Amino acid sequence: MKLHILKNDDLIAESVAKIFIDKVRENPSAVLGFATGATPIKTYKQIIRFYNEEKISFNNITTFNLDEYCKLPKDDKNSYYSFMHEQLFNFLDLKEKNIFFLNGNAENMAEECRHYQNKIATVGGIDIQLLGIGRNGHIGFNEPGDVFLKDAHEVRLTQSTINANSKYFTKNMMPNSALTMGIGDIMSAKKVILIATGKEKADAIYRMTSNKISPLCPASVLQFHQNAEVFCDEAAAEFLSNEI
Ligand code: GLP
Repeated sequence: MKLHILKNDDLIAESVAKIFIDKVRENPSAVLGFATGATPIKTYKQIIRFYNEEKISFNNITTFNLDEYCKLPKDDKNSYYSFMHEQLFNFLDLKEKNIFFLNGNAENMAEECRHYQNKIATVGGIDIQLLGIGRNGHIGFNEPGDVFLKDAHEVRLTQSTINANSKYFTKNMMPNSALTMGIGDIMSAKKVILIATGKEKADAIYRMTSNKISPLCPASVLQFHQNAEVFCDEAAAEFLSNEI
């Protein structure tokens, strides 16, 4: 796991956007995995800027998102489908048919998860998967638990995640479950980039980079990934000692 500590989130956004743009330039049919949350918004703005300035086409790119709430209409303003379109997809020349989300309104959630994993396999796997991190160390919606769940699955959100994300919803309207790629799906991506900014992520970053790899901090599994890069600002890196 390679750790980059940068001065601020603008520098992180620029560096991470560049990695994505370089991948698209190198392979115009690449498969990209995206994440939601406040953290990647600046990175998405930078991708749009580079896309416009460097005239790079996303026309043959395929995208997969990490997760989606259950029982929230696709066009609800808080669905991750809406978020990604508003923050990134509407500004690129992606084909809608190449944009994939887990369907949190599927009749059979287990089948939907299998179908999503099959789709990822059919296109040859994800080239770069972007990740944020929850304050409790979750990635996607893989919440802390007794085991690392390998496959895509339905998850009951923890109180920590509900507290962090409920600010986006009208009172008590936040779904309490979601579908998420599993740890195995994330670990299968050829490259993984995790971004963390702000002091409220400092504890999670400390735990994910410490020696202990544990499902109690799901992000710590990335220590086993051959090509994982972590980008933190100074606030998120506050508890890291110099030897890391
Ligand atoms: C949600 C998403 C995660 C994201 C996390 C952190 O729970 N499912 O993918 O990493 O929030 O969000 P933020 O960047 O807003 O702190």
